[in-house]
Amino acid sequence: MFTLAHLSDPHLAPLPAPRWSQLVGKRITGYINWQRKRRFIHDPAVLAIIVADMKSQAPDHIAVTGDIANIALPGEFTRGRDWLESLGLAKNVTFVPGNHDIYVREAAAYATRQWDAQMCDDYGVSGFPFLRRRGPLALIGLSTGVPTAPLLATGWLGTKQLAELSAMLNELKKENLFRVVLIHHPPVSEAARHKQLLDAPVLLRVIAAHGADLVIHGHDHVHMINWLKGPNGRRVPAVGVPSASAIPGTSKDAAAYNLYRIAGSASGWSCELISRGSGPAGEVIEQKRLMLVGTT
Ligand SMILES: [Fe+2]
Ligand SMILES: [Fe+2]
Repeated sequence: MFTLAHLSDPHLAPLPAPRWSQLVGKRITGYINWQRKRRFIHDPAVLAIIVADMKSQAPDHIAVTGDIANIALPGEFTRGRDWLESLGLAKNVTFVPGNHDIYVREAAAYATRQWDAQMCDDYGVSGFPFLRRRGPLALIGLSTGVPTAPLLATGWLGTKQLAELSAMLNELKKENLFRVVLIHHPPVSEAARHKQLLDAPVLLRVIAAHGADLVIHGHDHVHMINWLKGPNGRRVPAVGVPSASAIPGTSKDAAAYNLYRIAGSASGWSCELISRGSGPAGEVIEQKRLMLVGTT
C-alpha cells in the first residue's frame, strides 16, 4: 500500500510588502484583488492545521499542484521554498506550478531557482513534463503556468509539453507503474473561459490515446471529480482539491486535502480516495471516502 497526499493552492499569506517598482503590469490588479478580497480567504492558521493533519497520516509522498504564490513577488518564492521544505524532504514532495506562481514573465526563473528540488526528475533535471518514480507510482509533473494579461487566469501546456507527455505516457505503459499526472488547471472545468486550460482538448486526446491511472489538480478551489475517456473504454479519474488555506463560508470549498491509498499492480490496481478537510469547529475531519479504481 502506497499513500499519496495531495494538497493545492496554499496561496501563502500574508503577502510580503511589495516595493512600488514591483507593482507593474498584472501585479497591480493582482495586488488590489489580494487586498480587497483574497487576503480574507487564505488563512495561514487554516493551512497549518491542514498540513499538521496531513503529516499525521504519514503519507509516503506529497503532491502539491500549484499556486503557492499570489502575485509572484520575489519574496513569495523564498517563503514558498521554506514552506515546501517544511512539508518534508524534497525527494518526498513533488510540486508543479500554477498561474499565480508564473504570474509575470520573470516568475519562471524565480520558481526554478527556489523550487527546483521539488519540480525536477529523478536525475535532478528541470523542465516539464518531468517524471519521478516513487514506489509503484510514476509521478508526471506538468506546468500550465504562463504569464497572461491582467484578469486572465488561463493555463497553457503547449505542443512541446503535450508531445513529450504523450511519449512519456506511451513509454510508461511498458512498466508496471500507476501513472499519476500532476497539473494545476483542471482538464475539465465549468469555470469561466478566462480561468480555463486553453489547450485542454489536446490533453484530453493524449489521455484518451495513452491513458493514465489518475490525474490530480487544483486551481478551481473546489472538490471535483471528472471521469476522462481513456483507451479501450477505460475511464481516468481527474480529481481536484480545494485550496489548502481557504476559510469556510466563501463561495468555494473550505480547506481540504486528499489521500490516495494505492495498491496492486498493472493487472489490477486499487485506489481509494479519502478527502479530509475543515469541519464545523475548525478541526480536520474525514469528508469523503471513495474507491476510485478497483473494488478492494
Ligand atoms: Fe489558486
Ligand atoms: Fe490557479
